[in-house]
Amino acid sequence: MIIAIDGPAGAGKSTVAKLIAQKLGFLYIDTGAMYRALTLKALDEGIDIGDSARIIGAARASDIELINNHNGTLKVKLDGKDVSLAIREPRITRFVSDIAKIKEVRECMVTLQRKFGRKGDCVLDGRDIGTVVFPDADKKFYIDAAFSERVSRRHKELLGLGQKIGFQDVEQDLKNRDTIDSTRAVGPLKKADDAVYVDTTDLTIDEVVAKVLSYIK
Ligand code: DC
Repeated sequence: MIIAIDGPAGAGKSTVAKLIAQKLGFLYIDTGAMYRALTLKALDEGIDIGDSARIIGAARASDIELINNHNGTLKVKLDGKDVSLAIREPRITRFVSDIAKIKEVRECMVTLQRKFGRKGDCVLDGRDIGTVVFPDADKKFYIDAAFSERVSRRHKELLGLGQKIGFQDVEQDLKNRDTIDSTRAVGPLKKADDAVYVDTTDLTIDEVVAKVLSYIK
């Protein structure tokens, strides 16, 4: 079974997707982590973010692995190296949407996501899972929340990761990414027609998980 969970940054998507996967004993595939891993590679190799040809080359030459640990955490490996923490750094968040809008990069990642998704029952979260990656997914959800709530959740999450980032910087980052992610030509952030829309603004994580599980069952 394939469960697709899409939505904008900060809506609680990945937390919910991870918990649903854990409860159902499914694999969890964080597709945003894949775009982040490629962004890390580009920055570490000194590739200019505007140099699409080199970024496409890096995407084709990358070995990205997602490993589900038994304790419910996800390990992200890039070319054999654990990059789970590095991909959450602000420098990655700043450029990831610019890299994710490149058509050939998306083709590469979508191919990989389909390969991962065919390994068994899984929950995938991202922006285009229900529309492009698995349009035939068994269940589709679009997880959303009011912009101010998303900013405040993401801010708290980053502070929890030890990043000293201001509220306004998070607000600006989400605004930029929302714009780039939803206006790009290929695989834009969009609710699939047959996805269940879940507004999480006034819900706790447990309430969202219960709601999503009730639709799945
Ligand atoms: O979910 P996230 O914030 O970790 O995702 C990082 C970026 O990756 C996001 O701004 C857009 C991009 N992304 C995408 O374009 N398509 C996906 N399926 C997942 C993420």
